[in-house]
Amino acid sequence: MSTRRNVLKALEENKGATVSGEELANRLNISRAAVWKSIQDLRQEGYRIDAITNKGYCLAQDSDVLSVEGILPHLKANFMADRIHVFRSLESTNLTAKKMALDGIPPGTVVIAEEQTKGRGRMGRSFHSPPVGGIYISFILQPRFDAAKSVLITTAASVAVCKAIENVTGISCRIKWVNDVYLGEKKICGILTEAVTDFESGRIEYIVLGIGINYNTAQSAFPKELSGIAGSLLESGRLSGSAASRNRLIAELIDQVLEINESLESRGFLADYKSRSFVLGKEILIIPTAGSKQERNLSEGIPASAVDIDGDGGLVVRLQDGSVRTLNSGEISIRTI
Ligand code: BTN
Repeated sequence: MSTRRNVLKALEENKGATVSGEELANRLNISRAAVWKSIQDLRQEGYRIDAITNKGYCLAQDSDVLSVEGILPHLKANFMADRIHVFRSLESTNLTAKKMALDGIPPGTVVIAEEQTKGRGRMGRSFHSPPVGGIYISFILQPRFDAAKSVLITTAASVAVCKAIENVTGISCRIKWVNDVYLGEKKICGILTEAVTDFESGRIEYIVLGIGINYNTAQSAFPKELSGIAGSLLESGRLSGSAASRNRLIAELIDQVLEINESLESRGFLADYKSRSFVLGKEILIIPTAGSKQERNLSEGIPASAVDIDGDGGLVVRLQDGSVRTLNSGEISIRTI
């Protein structure tokens, strides 16, 4: 590991506390000049490091540059540092994760970026991923059973996101079927799962689970068409002054996703999913998929009531003629009556 990364590791492990230059030099077996040089380099990269006269250096509590060193001290899972890849800017963490998977990187690897220039959303849409305040993370996972059931990971991931946010910040979020996470009326997280398929056998080799969270993204960072729809955890008013940080939330998210992935088959997470759903019991509109016959006939959506979530994460709905149907994919909106 480079001297700079070793200094960062020591500072992250003592975040908010002062560590003397001498202690750092002794601990890392380097000169005090080398410590000073690393501090300058880290400041250049955006880390807020205060120099306190006669005491030493302190990585400010609100310094929140994403890094492996910043994530590791908060991880419960026995996770190897070389499984975490942090980038300043990527087109899409899902895209990079898919390429890494095809290159043979082991499952369990995570890819994180401060910014995405071509963030991908569901149904071919884009996911706005500004450079300040977001969390864009993709997990490379091994499918645990057949492809149809692997879809459950998307549903489970929304529970993992809610739990991680609650544990780190105390903020309670709700889930809109299928897997959008909301704070109040605004979407603060989107999830996109993509499969990496073997070209010859057509078998799903890996699943890439991508999660985008608007952590402390300012409203002004969203384009006009998203204002009123997209929000961030900042709007809860509970982030400032707390010990929460993006690095901590990422660590908790890694723990929660890995835990929930292990218990996918038992569907233990479904009870939690239901209790966090703000769709059940509501009047909804089923949005017809683009190009479908229904879209041509009913462009404003099909009215229904959301009744239940089935064992595969499908939404059980009652249509106005009384018939009951299960939606396995697609989109809904909440009907205001
Ligand atoms: C959606 O709401 O439509 C899904 C959005 C998923 C966004 C995440 S951000 C990390 C990962 N990389 C991407 O390009 N997309 C997902």
